[in-house]
Amino acid sequence: MHEIKIANDIAENYRILHDTIKGHIQYEQDLIANFANIASFIYCTLPDVSWVGFYLRKGNELVLGPFMGKPACTRIAIGKGVCGYVAESEEMVVVPNVHEFEGHIACDWDTNSEIVLPLLKDGEFFAVLDLDSASFDRFKQEDVDGLTKIVQSINEYLDTL
Ligand code: SME
Repeated sequence: MHEIKIANDIAENYRILHDTIKGHIQYEQDLIANFANIASFIYCTLPDVSWVGFYLRKGNELVLGPFMGKPACTRIAIGKGVCGYVAESEEMVVVPNVHEFEGHIACDWDTNSEIVLPLLKDGEFFAVLDLDSASFDRFKQEDVDGLTKIVQSINEYLDTL
């Protein structure tokens, strides 16, 4: 069992979450086990997040990886939807209103905002980390800052595989 600590201050919450994830992946090498626990740590720690998960690059598609939340689309073509866009551009995307993002893939009709970050292994695009919320404009600068740090640590871990 892993304890989930939740702070009221957003930056402090991210600091704890980052430390937890970093500490965890330091002692375990298995990709699926680590991605599964990272998705769970994020989902259980951040408020108002309806889905957290990974899509991994397999050829010219993204294939669903470990996640927390409702069942989701299994395959996304590179270039399609928010995740496919991030896979192609290798840039993080914050979508305050998914209904205004052309080509957004609705896995869950309750989703109203989303943030997707690229993961790199040895400098090459490897996967995306996707967070969804039922609230509009859920993901703010503090989330961008906190998740960017978490992704840096995940990338460092991926480089060791
Ligand atoms: N909305 C994403 C698809 C994945 S689900 O949100 C889990 C997209 O447009 O790429």
